[in-house]
Amino acid sequence: MQPFPSDQIQLPRNMIENSMFEEEPDVVDLAKEPCLHPLEPDEVEYEPRSSRLLVRGLGEHEMDDDEEDYESSAKLLGMSFMNRSSSLRNNMSVYRQSSNGSCSLPSTRTMVVCTVILVIAVALIMVIYLLPKCTFTKEGCHKRNHTIELIYPLATNGKLFPWAKIRLPSDVVPLHYDLVLQPNLTTLKFSGSVKIVVNIIHVTWKIVLHSSGLNITKATITSAGGHQEKLAEFLEYPLHDQIAVMAPEALLVGQNYTVNLAYSSKLSDTYYGFYKISYKDENLKQRWFAATQFEPVAARSAFPCFDEPAFKATFLIKIKRDEKLSTMSNMPKKATTPVTNGIVQDEFFVSLKMSTYLVAFVVADLKNISRETNESLVSVYAIPQHLNQVEYALNTSVKLLEFYQNYFLINYPLEKLDLVAIPDLQSGAMENWGLITFRESALLFDSHTSSARDKKSVTAVIAHELAHQWFGNLVTMEWWNDLWLNEGFATFMEYFAMEEIFPELHSDEDFLNLIFKAMMKDSLNSSHPVSSAVQSSEQIEEMFDALSYIKITNGTLDVKKLMKTWIVQKGFPLVTVVRKGKIISVKQEKYLYLVEPENWTSDASYLWHIPLTYITSSCNFTHCTNAYLLDQKSAIIELPEEVEWIKFNVDMNGYYIVHYGEDWKTLIDLLKKNHTALSPKDRANLINNIFNLAGLGKESLEKAFELIDYLNKESSTAPLTQALFQLSLIYNLLEKKGEQQLASRLMHRIERLLGDKIDQQSWTDDGALSQRELRSMLLAFACTHDIRNCRTTATEMFEKWVNSNGTISLPSDVMKAVFTAGAKSSDGWDFLLKMYYSSVSEAEKSKMIEALASTDDVRKLIWLMQNSLEGEVIRTQELSHIIATVSQSLPGYLLAWDFVKENWEKLTQKFHLGSYTIQNIISWSTSQFATKAHLMEVKSFFESKSEQSSQLHSVKEAIETIQFNIQWMERNLAMLQELL
Ligand code: BES
Ligand code: ZN
Repeated sequence: MQPFPSDQIQLPRNMIENSMFEEEPDVVDLAKEPCLHPLEPDEVEYEPRSSRLLVRGLGEHEMDDDEEDYESSAKLLGMSFMNRSSSLRNNMSVYRQSSNGSCSLPSTRTMVVCTVILVIAVALIMVIYLLPKCTFTKEGCHKRNHTIELIYPLATNGKLFPWAKIRLPSDVVPLHYDLVLQPNLTTLKFSGSVKIVVNIIHVTWKIVLHSSGLNITKATITSAGGHQEKLAEFLEYPLHDQIAVMAPEALLVGQNYTVNLAYSSKLSDTYYGFYKISYKDENLKQRWFAATQFEPVAARSAFPCFDEPAFKATFLIKIKRDEKLSTMSNMPKKATTPVTNGIVQDEFFVSLKMSTYLVAFVVADLKNISRETNESLVSVYAIPQHLNQVEYALNTSVKLLEFYQNYFLINYPLEKLDLVAIPDLQSGAMENWGLITFRESALLFDSHTSSARDKKSVTAVIAHELAHQWFGNLVTMEWWNDLWLNEGFATFMEYFAMEEIFPELHSDEDFLNLIFKAMMKDSLNSSHPVSSAVQSSEQIEEMFDALSYIKITNGTLDVKKLMKTWIVQKGFPLVTVVRKGKIISVKQEKYLYLVEPENWTSDASYLWHIPLTYITSSCNFTHCTNAYLLDQKSAIIELPEEVEWIKFNVDMNGYYIVHYGEDWKTLIDLLKKNHTALSPKDRANLINNIFNLAGLGKESLEKAFELIDYLNKESSTAPLTQALFQLSLIYNLLEKKGEQQLASRLMHRIERLLGDKIDQQSWTDDGALSQRELRSMLLAFACTHDIRNCRTTATEMFEKWVNSNGTISLPSDVMKAVFTAGAKSSDGWDFLLKMYYSSVSEAEKSKMIEALASTDDVRKLIWLMQNSLEGEVIRTQELSHIIATVSQSLPGYLLAWDFVKENWEKLTQKFHLGSYTIQNIISWSTSQFATKAHLMEVKSFFESKSEQSSQLHSVKEAIETIQFNIQWMERNLAMLQELL
């Protein structure tokens, strides 16, 4: 990949730097393109900020601004996958625009439908425009003496709360926070005070801001001069996490005021806000640790604040602490001063302007190693017994930081960057500015126990969070609907940087798998467009899903239109190719697992601008990749000459699936005869596409099996991983459906295809990284399914390890296979658990816990899940992984679901409704169901819960997945009986 020219680095309009509210929120004018996207009722929303109605689909905004977003985003992605090879870029001139440029002319029927939709939408606008302004806000009323009664919510004290919306009013903006905190790691409580300097945009009597679970004891307001601090009444409205500080006199436009609030609270026992963590020190003594996790909406539970990403301000943080502990925050420490006996106060330098969700502090007893680079001091922190595992992270961070500074041509702006290994963290890592927090397993690298896979993932997480220091921290999405601007770009840069700096890690293969996974999710009706309207905290948390992270698209040529089709439409296209001589017909439609009759019209109206790429038998090297922009429903491509075969979506650089119709046969023959004519990624792509099409009923499963018949000749990791993934999906479903015989026939088939490959694996850590990863995967699979004598070798190694009392070191890449085999016996399981308690390597512990969770002993499985939920002997951060492993196995899958049902309240309390962890738990614990009875069961369980639970995207996805599994079985079971 080539660096993109720096003059192209501009911010997308809806990413903000240090200015606020200069621009209106997003409006996509689909009225101009009625054929693109059907207008859905839930897309009509009232936008509080600008006191005017915005309808996604019918805005008053000009299209161009929005198009700029996509264009700028695409430019930032100028180094996109389309541009990887310069030869390909040179080839871009081969893109042909269709004759009329963009949308095809709508048919009369479409015109009529669109007109009707327009009329309804305009009527809706009128109704909504007139109603809520006067219903909810005083300021919004056009006519001052309007007679409609105002409806305000009630504050906790019974008085009217003067603001009714989830998002804060824009008449007051914060400029600076002075925050003083005193956490007490004995009482596990904290007290605090915050002074917020605000600026008044519109005259008002109230300052509405966020606060959650804080016991506020005093509020005052001081005017600009700062002389008169006046007590102020404050009202609380917990449903929206808001408080309103009522000014004793009107707050004047353009003036600054200081709001001063004193409060106290408890350190949280969830993973959000300012939370406590207990851990054992080197002497096995229980110790406490306090850390923060604010993204997306938990800063408000540590201090009253304007907790929306656009409200950027500077922060001066002071923390009072026990003199034996230490503290860290976003900025370097400025001074430490004594407070009282044994208590000192750390003061940090004033921060840059930043969003509240990026504020962070840690109070603990940590050790670190550091190195200076480009005038910034990079340090990696861990609890003392883990200090010997931080070196890899420091080296990697320094390399990555240098790379990003050179690449973006913007220096990392802070004097220090701390990376901290936190003993209990819900997510993998969090990009707090200057103080990145990591799960221990995502930062620590131990040369004895960390595998090739672990090395890759530690590197990837660091690369991702460092990319956020620019994408997200320096420039930030204005609102959570555009989370993809943060996460999508950070994910892109993560892989880009890894390929540049650590080519030996072959991270491109992981990117491929990531896209495959995103597509599985995006093919469901319950998917959402990359940019979606969100308001409530559950909806905001739900934005952190695979789509915000992965679906970004190829930005080239007419990027404005192109990007829009990928960002505002959910799902992705299926491209069907028919070849007749030199003539290739291509057509696109929406790819859908389940066709729902009520969605026919809307599904048919989807249209993407797809930068198709293809190679042919006449020239199949990367430098002769051809390209064609498909911006119509269908088109004809004429080749210069007739070819033996054609393969689209070169190296899977595009986000679409291809159906070759009759030509599948040609590709199957090609793989059989000469599979290396295609790249490993192309081979993986074909395997993925044909199995997907078989699931859809568009291609036969027989063909899919025929295509993978060449696998015994395959030696590349990407196609083998994809084949094993597809076959495991089928195996798992058959097994849970009670089709054991068929499942074991499938396993024989897998053995026939991959048996030799499994036998060839050595039980060592030798070889290139990609081979080592393949070895881990194949041996873990073989030992899990008890094939190819895997367990014999693994058990022998396990016994030697037990006999040495765990002192001999096992090769890290095969460790999981060895532990999995060992944990099959009761003694082995007990020994492994004992070693789990005493291990100081998180890399080793995560392999142990997976092995423990793969036992067939149901009592042990229940014990593991319960203990992980309690968090005493097994950390609660492990629970979703344990549930994932348990729910894959035959003895465990029903247990896992029962466990989720029984503990739903506790789970959602600990992990939050909508969080990535809850999404995963829902998905894993239901993914193996393929019967109508289970479908009903899952539906009725979530219906019996709160509306917020049943309305979760992940619940809808789970239900659709079960429906898909049922349909898959109905379609393919008979065929499988014949095939296997
Ligand atoms: N910003 C996220 C962390 C986050 C996730 C906060 C969800 C709040 C809700 C962070 O940058 C992130 O993406 N972390 C990933 C790891 C990354 C390598 C993909 C994670 O935690 O899994
Ligand atoms: Zn991220």
